[in-house]
Amino acid sequence: MLLKKEFGEENVQDFSLGNPVLDPPNEFFESLTKISSGIRPKGIHGYMQNAGFVSTRNEIAQKLTNESKSSVNSDDILITTGAAGAINVILHSILDQNDEVIIFKPYFPEYKFYVDNHGGKSVYCEFNEDFTPSIESLNSIISDKTKAIILNSPNNPTGATYSKEVIENICKIASSAEEKYRSKIFIISDEPYRYLEYENTFQPFIFDLYERGIVASSFSKDLSIAGERIGFIAIGDRLNEKQTLINAFNFSNRTLGYVNAPALGQRLVENSINALVDISQYQSKRDKMYSSLIEFGYEIIKPTGAFYLFPKSPLENDVEFTELLKKERILVVPGAGFGGAGYFRISYSVEDKVISKSLDGFKKVIDSIKG
Ligand SMILES: Cc1ncc(COP(=O)(O)O)c(C=O)c1O
Repeated sequence: MLLKKEFGEENVQDFSLGNPVLDPPNEFFESLTKISSGIRPKGIHGYMQNAGFVSTRNEIAQKLTNESKSSVNSDDILITTGAAGAINVILHSILDQNDEVIIFKPYFPEYKFYVDNHGGKSVYCEFNEDFTPSIESLNSIISDKTKAIILNSPNNPTGATYSKEVIENICKIASSAEEKYRSKIFIISDEPYRYLEYENTFQPFIFDLYERGIVASSFSKDLSIAGERIGFIAIGDRLNEKQTLINAFNFSNRTLGYVNAPALGQRLVENSINALVDISQYQSKRDKMYSSLIEFGYEIIKPTGAFYLFPKSPLENDVEFTELLKKERILVVPGAGFGGAGYFRISYSVEDKVISKSLDGFKKVIDSIKG
């Protein structure tokens, strides 16, 4: 902020935020026009069931039924205040004091705070070179205290997408632990970037692979409407004690003070349920950024989804390295804050001119280090 004040916004290249830069798709604006010019059903701006409008839940359920192997119905969906609201509602519903939640490094930093909010304890799983979770580490930390595992693919901060095999391995370890400890472990799949995927790798739905698999998602990135705060929780048809869980979600949504997700936002997404921002634009930003940085000598695992790159820091200390970039008026985030020390995060959800203006600075800094 200070840099922008001192040098002017256009002279600081800011890659530090995860805010969608693309415009929402046309269907979204058409839906907005339709709602504002159409008939106004009575009570449409009032409170509703805590789970959200049945009609909106129906649309989400239909979409998930089409794309998954489960038959999802509107009662299996709870509309939430973004994916963030979804995760908080889930954790509030399932955690007892000091229950442990396994989080895969590198992670979305808010997870720890969400777990803290509901009396849980975060336990961190190490990662492999390709940013997949270390199975060895997972096996060593899963215990009788584990109540949940949060996975996030496509991933913030790495942009990596987990393969079906990786997700299946996580499920296997959770199932074995459930058997061993006679416990129940939930796998929460946080997937606001599911449709921001550039290699056509289809990611299976967690509830198709694992009984206690719960999806936490949102329209924040698919439709570029992060500020409208519309997300959802979805469970599959394999889950025993489904109703108990759904009741808990409803109660938590109410008592955490969300009450219900914003009414207007629900109606907007209902009418543009299959729409998607033009992801070819994200892909071309990714390609430009990736190929330029590789050419300059940065080490990067090519990300397959979301809108992040997570390169290795050319200096061992990633905080020091990001300070060097700052001198070139380039803002990125040190990996340490994501549990990924030795790396740094670039959000390429920025205008193309931010990318082109930054390239000299990225080159200058790595050249000065490598000599
Ligand atoms: C991994 C991850 N999970 C959850 C969220 C929160 O999403 P929402 O804005 O839908 O609450 C974000 C937002 O950036 C995210 O990156």
